[in-house]
Amino acid sequence: MALLEIRVYPDRVLRETAKPIDEITDEIIRLSQDMIETMRLARGAGLAANQVGIPIRLIVVELKSGKVGKPVAIINPEIISSESEEISEEGCLSVPGYYEYINRPKKVSVKGVTIDNAPFQIECEGHLARAFQHEIDHLNGRLFIDYLSPVKKNIFKKRYLKQKNR
Ligand code: NI
Repeated sequence: MALLEIRVYPDRVLRETAKPIDEITDEIIRLSQDMIETMRLARGAGLAANQVGIPIRLIVVELKSGKVGKPVAIINPEIISSESEEISEEGCLSVPGYYEYINRPKKVSVKGVTIDNAPFQIECEGHLARAFQHEIDHLNGRLFIDYLSPVKKNIFKKRYLKQKNR
């Protein structure tokens, strides 16, 4: 396994719409293993392939966090239903050092295919629901900072780019 470089905002690959995967190749399996390793080292709750520079529809998510983690790699994930809302703090490995409160659906159902080519479906809420939504957003070229109000986004851009160029 190998650690991958995590692309950071404003890298343009983060804005690409990732392509659907029609065949699970050895290369994709290896990539998913490397993404899990990279996510864990960075202490992230999830990682999308765009974030390591490969815009294909593959995400890894930590189903359980802590010492006994349980990572899954999901191909072509989709949110099939969502309900109620919750405001909670969010961050992103591609936007290091920045956290903000974001409103999202609280409960979601997610569908996809596991890396072993088995159907995957989960209903979840709270942190896990947020992680799936956040990672699937990445596949659509969307970042959590896109949910900020225009005023907050301007403040973010000034501060973030200043810190990045230091
Ligand atoms: Ni992210």
